[in-house]
Amino acid sequence: MNTIKRNPIGFFDSGIGGTSIWQEVNKLLPNENTIYLADSKNAPYGQKSKEKILEYCIKNTEFLLNKNAKIIVVACNTATTNAINYLRENYDIPFIGIEPAIKKAGLVTKNKKIGVLATKGTINSKLFEKTSTKIDHSIKIIEQVGYGLVELIENGEIDSSKMEKLIYECLDPMLKENIDALVLGCTHYAYLVPQIKKIIGNHIQIVDSGLAVAKQTQRVLNGVNLLNSSTSEKTFNHFYINKKSKILVEILKNYNPVEVIEKEF
Ligand code: DGL
Repeated sequence: MNTIKRNPIGFFDSGIGGTSIWQEVNKLLPNENTIYLADSKNAPYGQKSKEKILEYCIKNTEFLLNKNAKIIVVACNTATTNAINYLRENYDIPFIGIEPAIKKAGLVTKNKKIGVLATKGTINSKLFEKTSTKIDHSIKIIEQVGYGLVELIENGEIDSSKMEKLIYECLDPMLKENIDALVLGCTHYAYLVPQIKKIIGNHIQIVDSGLAVAKQTQRVLNGVNLLNSSTSEKTFNHFYINKKSKILVEILKNYNPVEVIEKEF
């Protein structure tokens, strides 16, 4: 068997948010080995300059290439919208990116009003602007920066009253506009779905990109003949994180085999 097929799929995010994407990929491609890099020390990326985000993305890519990643999933909207073009032009492996699922929301909305909750870095990016103009022009997009949400998630304060208040403040302007679809444009926000639903109820559809990213990863690996379909060997899933974190271990507690490695990088 081609040993490169055994090489891991690499993932990176500014922190633990991209594990929501890792979970989708792991569900769809359980035979694949994986390496995940959580750059929690530098989170959040969302408020940083494009140059700084690019610098982190290059460092993360080099780290994963040193671990023999055969493909890299940029499991972060902010990193994708600011750096994926550069990464694709400068490295010789495939990159899978993630963008807010505006197109999908455009298909589910009935009243043509969709909300997008994302980081400042994503909303201000050129790629986001380009995608937004590609959908039906009669659809109104109400954008909202999720100020403070990533920081609280990274601290494990998902169920706190502080979180509840912040989410409410983010969603209120969209609710006032009567949206009927809400795009979660940051991989961290997948961990806020129960809290968000408490505020928006069931009549607003939540849209994210997780499954689409997993399917795209499968398609691209298949296209370059690097899908690992072998069931005879043990798989590994290594999670590197450069900050002490209880939340990462908590998120992964039902997955096996999984190894969390806390180390400075
Ligand atoms: N998880 C991220 C995203 O999808 C980045 C959040 C941040 O670091 O600000 O945008």
